[in-house]
Amino acid sequence: MALNKKCNLVDGDWVSGDGSYENSNPSDLSDPVGTYTHATPAQAEEAMSAAVRSLPSWSMVSPQLRCDILDRIGTLILQRTEELGRTLAREEGKTLPEAIGEAVRAGQIFKYFAGEALRNAGDYISSTRPGVDVEVTREPVGVCVLITPWNFPIAIPAWKMAPALAYGNTVILKPAELVPATAAALCEIAVEAGIPQGVVNMLVGKGKTVGSTLVGDERTNAVSFTGSTETGRWIAKRCGELGKKVQCEMGGKNPMVILEDADLGVAVDVSINGAFHSTGQRCTASSRLIVVDRLFDAFFSKFKERTESLVVGHALDPSTQIGPVVDQSQLEKDIGYLEIARGDGADVIGGQQLSLDTDGYYLRPAALVGTSPDARVNREEIFGPVASIIRVKDEDEALEVANATPFGLSAGVCTTSLARSRRFKRELQAGMVMVNLPTAGVDHHVPFGGTKASSIGPREQGSHARDFYTVVKTTYVA
Ligand code: UN1
Repeated sequence: MALNKKCNLVDGDWVSGDGSYENSNPSDLSDPVGTYTHATPAQAEEAMSAAVRSLPSWSMVSPQLRCDILDRIGTLILQRTEELGRTLAREEGKTLPEAIGEAVRAGQIFKYFAGEALRNAGDYISSTRPGVDVEVTREPVGVCVLITPWNFPIAIPAWKMAPALAYGNTVILKPAELVPATAAALCEIAVEAGIPQGVVNMLVGKGKTVGSTLVGDERTNAVSFTGSTETGRWIAKRCGELGKKVQCEMGGKNPMVILEDADLGVAVDVSINGAFHSTGQRCTASSRLIVVDRLFDAFFSKFKERTESLVVGHALDPSTQIGPVVDQSQLEKDIGYLEIARGDGADVIGGQQLSLDTDGYYLRPAALVGTSPDARVNREEIFGPVASIIRVKDEDEALEVANATPFGLSAGVCTTSLARSRRFKRELQAGMVMVNLPTAGVDHHVPFGGTKASSIGPREQGSHARDFYTVVKTTYVA
């Protein structure tokens, strides 16, 4: 694996950039994961030229070839999930089982899109004019810039890269600086599987330099971004000005509603999983647990007990349930929000910073009790192991509070009533609704995305990914 300075893949070569930096393991700061370099402007230029140059041939090859290569990428990932999972857990801090699970997901995504390369069918329809036929076909959108976050170091690059390649596009991946090793491992696998030179490029660097250069380049045809709302809006605005296709997956403040007829065991399980697994560092995390008055005390005592028993530790330790926070600045942000909650009169259960055998960014999961639905901690995305438990009087108020957020990514409800689940499925304002399941943890073969401030542009994943990675052509034939 490319755990070194040559972490930029430019036109088929792994090259060293400049501005080298150390990446350390958030579970053990004395364990350096590697030394990486930022791509230079000249390398960004070369990667862009390579992506442009390789586009005509890649977009015109037989879809069977694209299918075979994507399938091979999937196979290689699935053969190496243990190794990829370890790298991922070391640089990001999620537990090894979660990291291996994420690598499996990436492999499955490539397998899925291998088949999609062969299913890129069009329509054929008679024109309104006699003697004329109309064909509606899909063509690759072109050079795709993929900007990915640190919290899913292999699954998110996979779910952008696989459809981009399946439909005949070329890509430049800019992974988050915190997780270059996993992204490089993915690109190495793509090369090993036979991706032609220049079709996949990877540049490590800051969003403000490399990212904005790529977004602003007139040769970029489409930008797919996952990250913060602020950056996503900037990218969408820039792409709007420049006339580029854009897709942004941004923040969430996802509600999990617990109704009075919920199965208590299910409600506690999905809430613990949604709020704290992956250290709460998921845009789909359940950060607002909205519980109706009649079940509140029973839910709260079980949830508190489970929260307090969660084992926080080194990501590679098999007994660990919750890994560390990703880095110092995210840790400070999480702790800052706990202070804000206390200032607003909340009781904070947990939330202590922990000193363990290895020096890392360990934080006990925190439950905030007694905040008002419009408190800052209930409006702003924290992106850590912090969840509010909000008491509401009944189902109507639960729905109102659940929807009272600028975000709309995922939303859940725990209920055993068919009628109530039907109402919440219809009325929750979110791109994804989970009934008796955690708000986080999605399938790879169905659409992923949100409403309101959570998403801009077409959905990712599943067959809907085609809407972003292709453009429609209508041809009239007399
Ligand atoms: C999931 O919940 O399975 O950044 C995936 C994120 C999301 C991915 C969530 N884009 O957290």
